[in-house]
Amino acid sequence: MTRSSIELGDVTPHNIKQLKKLNTVVFPVSYNDKFYVDVLEAGELAKLAYYNDIVVGAVCCRIDTTENQRRLYIMTLGCLSPYRRLGIGTVMFEHILDYVKNDGNFDSIFLHVQVNNDGAIEFYKKFGFEIVDTKEHYYKRIEPADAHVLQKALGRINSHGNISLHGNLSSSSSTNMNSRSKTRQYTFV
Ligand SMILES: CC(C)(COP(=O)(O)OP(=O)(O)OC[C@H]1O[C@@H](n2cnc3c(N)ncnc32)[C@H](O)[C@@H]1OP(=O)(O)O)[C@@H](O)C(=O)NCCC(=O)NCCS
Repeated sequence: MTRSSIELGDVTPHNIKQLKKLNTVVFPVSYNDKFYVDVLEAGELAKLAYYNDIVVGAVCCRIDTTENQRRLYIMTLGCLSPYRRLGIGTVMFEHILDYVKNDGNFDSIFLHVQVNNDGAIEFYKKFGFEIVDTKEHYYKRIEPADAHVLQKALGRINSHGNISLHGNLSSSSSTNMNSRSKTRQYTFV
């Protein structure tokens, strides 16, 4: 019997159409051409997930440096529904976690999630995320329009070689407005 395999691969000009198709199916929000142009430059922050050599998931992140913090923002992390609960989301998230840990210079990881997305909220809580804010009318074209901000604080090595935690500073409304502006640049929400 052969074992199922989950692998991550780069996003390239050759497979970017697969990423677009996947995001269209998985997310209620549409991403514009600029999103995909930037994703091609994102290196390890954008990955496709393969299950037995078939593209079934993808993760796309960017670095957010507003409010004197350096945070990783998860723009999209999703998996086709027939392939959920097989550990594919975990493999994608652990890749991102390895990235921020190796970097050692991030204050937190955060994302927005629609308030009714219980599955995603459970998924992120499992990895130590907390709901730090709720943005009313965050989405313009989908219901419910409100979004939770989920955040995981990270240890950051300071100039004395000690680990300091900064995560919760990021729940101020001005920070999240900045993130929203950037998201607006990418989406039709
Ligand atoms: C959230 C999402 C990425 C999870 O992907 P996945 O491949 O199913 O996740 P995993 O199989 O690695 O799940 C890991 C754990 O998270 C939790 N979890 C995942 N989905 C869950 C759900 N629907 N309900 C409750 N817990 C859930 C479970 O503890 C699970 O472990 P278990 O299966 O052993 O119980 C997937 O549901 C998805 O693509 N959703 C649509 C896109 C989305 O909303 N993304 C989030 C915003 S970026």
